[in-house]
Amino acid sequence: MRYVPLDARGWRLAMGLRPLAPEDWLEVDENRHTELALKEALLATRRDDVVGLTPAAEAASGELLEEVTAFLRVQHPQLAWSSDEREHPLVAAARVVQEDLCVMVRTDEWRLAGACVCFPSRWRLREKVGTTVDEIHRPVPGYDTSLAAPTRAVFDRLTPERSFWRLNWTLLDSPDLFQPAAARAAGAAPIDQWFFRVERQTIRRLPRSDAIIFTIRTYVTPLAASLGDARFVTHLLASVESAPEATRGYKGWVGVAQKLRALLDVGA
Ligand code: HEM
Repeated sequence: MRYVPLDARGWRLAMGLRPLAPEDWLEVDENRHTELALKEALLATRRDDVVGLTPAAEAASGELLEEVTAFLRVQHPQLAWSSDEREHPLVAAARVVQEDLCVMVRTDEWRLAGACVCFPSRWRLREKVGTTVDEIHRPVPGYDTSLAAPTRAVFDRLTPERSFWRLNWTLLDSPDLFQPAAARAAGAAPIDQWFFRVERQTIRRLPRSDAIIFTIRTYVTPLAASLGDARFVTHLLASVESAPEATRGYKGWVGVAQKLRALLDVGA
């Protein structure tokens, strides 16, 4: 697994921002071909579910496409890709990288001005476009009291010279990258058929348009592959068991701690 944002301390709602070097902005791996093909299919069949644009995103979208193509040319010169000039620049950018791309623009507040999100983790893009960072996070338990103010401050102070990245993770009963349904019911599948899903997110301010680009890269691995790793399992169990009830409900984890424990007791 590329990223395992777990430790012995258990569940914490934290920003966890780390400095991001320009050469690490976006990541390319062996799933590139499959994931770009999946994006193409979603754009062809469900464009309104994966693309949301407001006029406020226009200036930044062109700059974003320039940044993405320059990044690929410099950091991954061996990759073959082309961008369709008839496509909207934000979508053209999202079609050549594995990341989902969001353009945040400050008007009265920072708002999601436009996005191409093909791999949502149980949320709907159409409900978020045009809304503020606080409104986007309204369903997240504890965000309002512990993360809203620091996140607003980070957005206001972000400069083009210093970008950041962070990780989010969850457990889901489906490996699908495209999960737009907001269903929070705990899945019925046996826990060893669940998946560990990690989002690597970056924030970066664009110098010309002054917008902030928020990228989300999604990594999914079968939980079964890591159940033999005692350290991973201990940390996972500590996190799920110490998560507040509201968080467990939000994440669809109701009963998951017991299922994990039962599995481990049987295997012990
Ligand atoms: C540094 C800034 C940010 C922090 C600290 C942050 C933090 C979080 C956290 C903790 C969650 C809950 C995820 C979970 O537990 O599974 C979340 C969910 C989410 N975040 Fe952020 N986030 C940030 C920026 C953004 C931005 C810029 C967007 C813009 C699109 C965004 C979109 C979302 C969405 C759509 C969800 C799911 C909300 C839902 O369930 O309806 N986040 N975020």
